[in-house]
Amino acid sequence: MAADPLGQLESGLRELVRQARDAGLLGPFADLLRAQIEELASAASGDSTDTDGDGQDPVPQRFGMVGASPAMDKFFDVLAKVVHSDVPVLVLGETGTGKELVARALVREGPRAKGPFVAVNCAAVPPNLLESELFGHKRGSFTGAVADREGHFATAHGGTLFLDEIGDMPLPMQSKLLRALQEGEVRPVGSNRSRKVDVRVVAATHRDLLRESRAGTFREDLYYRLAVVTLALPPLRERTGDVGLLVRALVPRLAAELGRPAAVVSPEALALLDAWHWPGNVRELENELRRALALAPGAIGPADLSAHLRQPHSPSGAAGA
Ligand SMILES: Nc1ncnc2c1ncn2[C@@H]1O[C@H](COP(=O)(O)OP(=O)(O)OP(=O)(O)O)[C@@H](O)[C@H]1O
Ligand SMILES: [Mg+2]
Repeated sequence: MAADPLGQLESGLRELVRQARDAGLLGPFADLLRAQIEELASAASGDSTDTDGDGQDPVPQRFGMVGASPAMDKFFDVLAKVVHSDVPVLVLGETGTGKELVARALVREGPRAKGPFVAVNCAAVPPNLLESELFGHKRGSFTGAVADREGHFATAHGGTLFLDEIGDMPLPMQSKLLRALQEGEVRPVGSNRSRKVDVRVVAATHRDLLRESRAGTFREDLYYRLAVVTLALPPLRERTGDVGLLVRALVPRLAAELGRPAAVVSPEALALLDAWHWPGNVRELENELRRALALAPGAIGPADLSAHLRQPHSPSGAAGA
């Protein structure tokens, strides 16, 4: 049983919802109730606390992610509805929007939290090695295969396999992945025996996979198998008000990482950060803050920001006169 009262209340409520749902009593209230429990769990795990210690209101966070804009609120509400299920999820979003954070939240709060979590970046593995990475291989099956090797599917058995940058997977490998998911088994390269695997797949991509599947550059049948639920992260430029919150949450964390004193960001610098269109999203903001903290420990003003942030630019991001 949970040691802390909030944790105890949370697990009691989850059990109540489960029993009521099993008895067919909840109907349309199930999602609402689950979302409320999610909020409670966030509070219990320390989300939305005054992490920056600046005495201001707590920085709003859900699922370990900072954000209180209408766009992120909508996103969190959808995430709350699916986070306790075991269905395949496809996480979409531009680079740096937090796709990996979402994948980790799905695992942490999902039914396989205690199972293994294996992450594979499909874009980073050479195409000729991807099959052996995912399914394993037998010794001697190709040059360099000096010993039998278990693949990521087998390692993730009973847990979750995170297929990052799935849009970069070559078409022939997509067919093999589809077969593995349909049959629930994998065959190591060079082996004539298949092995049953029980793996929940969470995939992510910065590409428009639906369009690519319609254009024939991504297998449509695989798309629909992976995208039972899609979660689309909004770009940072559409998260009204979130840049300021992210700055408050990130500056103390990054300063600690860099071994620098926590810095104050001037209102003028904050206005420049807020006006930028952030094509690299939260990762770009993190890097900008890292740079500023390195150059100006203690206090960050407009002069400590990159030159392009100080140029006049149009709201769409194109540099202006
Ligand atoms: N809402 C958020 N709150 C706090 N930190 C965030 C948030 N979103 C993203 N980050 C941080 O921004 C960085 C990028 O996030 P992440 O790696 O999850 O993005 P991504 O979408 O997977 O990026 P890529 O497409 O480049 O792989 C990480 O350091 C992450 O901790
Ligand atoms: Mg990523």
